[in-house]
Amino acid sequence: MTEHATPSAFPGGPGLFRLDPETAHLNHGSYGAVPVPVQEAQHALRTEAHADPDAFFNTMPDRLDHARGRIASRLGADPAGISFISNATEGAHLALDAIPLAPGDEILVTDHGYGTVVAAAARRARVTTVALDPLLPDEDAVRETVLAALTPRTRVALLDHVSSPTARLIASPRLLADLAARGVTTVVDGAHTPGTLARPVAEGADFWFGNLHKWGYAPSGSAVLAVAPAHRAAVRALSPSWHEDRGFPLAVEYRATVDYTGWLAAPEGLAFIDSLGGDRVRAHNAALAAYGAELLARIPGLTALPHTEGLPMRSLLLPPGTAETQDAAAALREEIAAKLRTRVLVWARPGGGGIRVCGQIYNRPEEYERFAAALPGFLA
Ligand SMILES: Cc1ncc(COP(=O)(O)O)c(C=O)c1O
Repeated sequence: MTEHATPSAFPGGPGLFRLDPETAHLNHGSYGAVPVPVQEAQHALRTEAHADPDAFFNTMPDRLDHARGRIASRLGADPAGISFISNATEGAHLALDAIPLAPGDEILVTDHGYGTVVAAAARRARVTTVALDPLLPDEDAVRETVLAALTPRTRVALLDHVSSPTARLIASPRLLADLAARGVTTVVDGAHTPGTLARPVAEGADFWFGNLHKWGYAPSGSAVLAVAPAHRAAVRALSPSWHEDRGFPLAVEYRATVDYTGWLAAPEGLAFIDSLGGDRVRAHNAALAAYGAELLARIPGLTALPHTEGLPMRSLLLPPGTAETQDAAAALREEIAAKLRTRVLVWARPGGGGIRVCGQIYNRPEEYERFAAALPGFLA
């Protein structure tokens, strides 16, 4: 194992959030956290809406257009090809609804896929699940395993851009190109990429969706769907409202009287990362996650997983017999939270689940040190 120097804390990082200081929040990847300036931007929008609802709602199409343009330029996306959505799960449903499927067609997913997203596929077609050994050494091994699982009826591949439990790149550019060459429509779950990858939108994907509310510092309920030109006309709102005739993207976004303040404040989240220095934030977060994983890997029975360099999340396998079911994983997670005041993701897997730690600018090396020192007591 490579030994790295202890990373330093991000100057002023914790003060930029309003997180409970009594808890070590090592699970940014699940729900994100909103920096104070972004909370205040959303609060100002709510105040404006309460002061003159007519003025606020009557101008919404233009305001969405403006906010969407700001998001597109920060993500490096085509502004005509993205729409605001509420979350990654909604993105999966919108994308899969826009792909014509015949009886007998299959959707390929992997066993690293997120539950609600995989369920969206299962609602529409027969699902082929590729088992990806978490210890597969690299992107090429992942690519070969996915391609080997294609059948003559595979019409769609629904793949994580970066997987949640195992925290690694799955939908590599090469895999997406190989799938396109075989006539397979690709849907990429980028829940974790805005804020973690310098180029968050998967190039070459037919559909990509990503959460702004995880690593993008945006309010909860803020995500985007990016659609390749050939598919845009087929994308329909899940719950149509006014402006359906205007098509993608406004028809997907406009929901009449709902709270749009998260989307309107979302550009402030991405702008905030840039104001701190995107590369600096990413490097800091990745170094902290790597430090945490190195400490945990010293615990007998834990196995560090192969990882994608530069990501702010790292996963390890727990000893056999631990977190083998969803209930057991949730019980261990809650026990750690209650007794150690530490939030981490514990994921279930038959034969032994896993544990994931994240790095964020509000975290300090001591939080990982304390967690690694205490974890063996929870596994005994
Ligand atoms: C890879 C992945 N996809 C989808 C989701 C679901 O995100 P949301 O709750 O925003 O729908 C998550 C949430 O953690 C995730 O990690």
